[in-house]
Amino acid sequence: MKNVDIYEKLAPKYDQATTIVSFGIEEAWREMFVKEIKKHIDNGVLLDVASATGKMASKMDFDKMYLLEPSRQMNQIAKKRLEGKNVIFIEDFAEEAQIPEQVDIITSFMGVRNFDDMDKGIRNLDKYLKDGGYFAIVELTKSDSVMFGLSMFYISKIVPLLGGLITGEYESYKKFNQTIKHVTDEDILQNYPNYHIITHKRLFPPIASMMILKKDEC
Ligand SMILES: C[S@@+](CC[C@H](N)C(=O)[O-])C[C@H]1O[C@@H](n2cnc3c(N)ncnc32)[C@H](O)[C@@H]1O
Repeated sequence: MKNVDIYEKLAPKYDQATTIVSFGIEEAWREMFVKEIKKHIDNGVLLDVASATGKMASKMDFDKMYLLEPSRQMNQIAKKRLEGKNVIFIEDFAEEAQIPEQVDIITSFMGVRNFDDMDKGIRNLDKYLKDGGYFAIVELTKSDSVMFGLSMFYISKIVPLLGGLITGEYESYKKFNQTIKHVTDEDILQNYPNYHIITHKRLFPPIASMMILKKDEC
């Protein structure tokens, strides 16, 4: 089963369920992410990857945006949300997608760990980022802290119940949890040898990190 199959089922109630099970924390992280990115770049061509219902793109609001997302259901919701904006939808996987032009920034909010092959996905996306461009990520990653252990208890035991209740997709929520347990910040960062780190912050609660990387100029 591909990761997209989980999200395809969750799509109709994805936004509502995420806001409830995260107690709004996910929304606060999103605001912080946008604020941090805009310190470095606030327009140009943006590629948002694993764009789901298009929330990230609606907050970034660049003049031209590509949204890359393999789930048809997610894309349908995003299309409604972003009506009237200069947005091009690419219904494909990060590992294989072709982007028609080089972009100034790639954003991925809770995206990269969902790629079936994260390393391959990042390598493919890197081809479409201009030299001097930014790759900005927020991702759920594991750590050794006690707080991480407690948060994982909530995520693995309570979130499937709550999420399952809201969406009727208990099994999908259980599978969703399995994607969180294995990725570390280092697993992500080792894919960026030709970048330097502009921002690397652990978020609160400490189950996620924000990383903004700038691609070296040749
Ligand atoms: C947690 S959601 C992303 C949330 C979204 N970025 C936001 O701002 O709300 C993860 C998304 O990754 C997508 N996905 C799964 N496999 C993927 C792949 N191989 N390449 C790109 N996206 C993928 C899923 O369909 C899902 O919409």
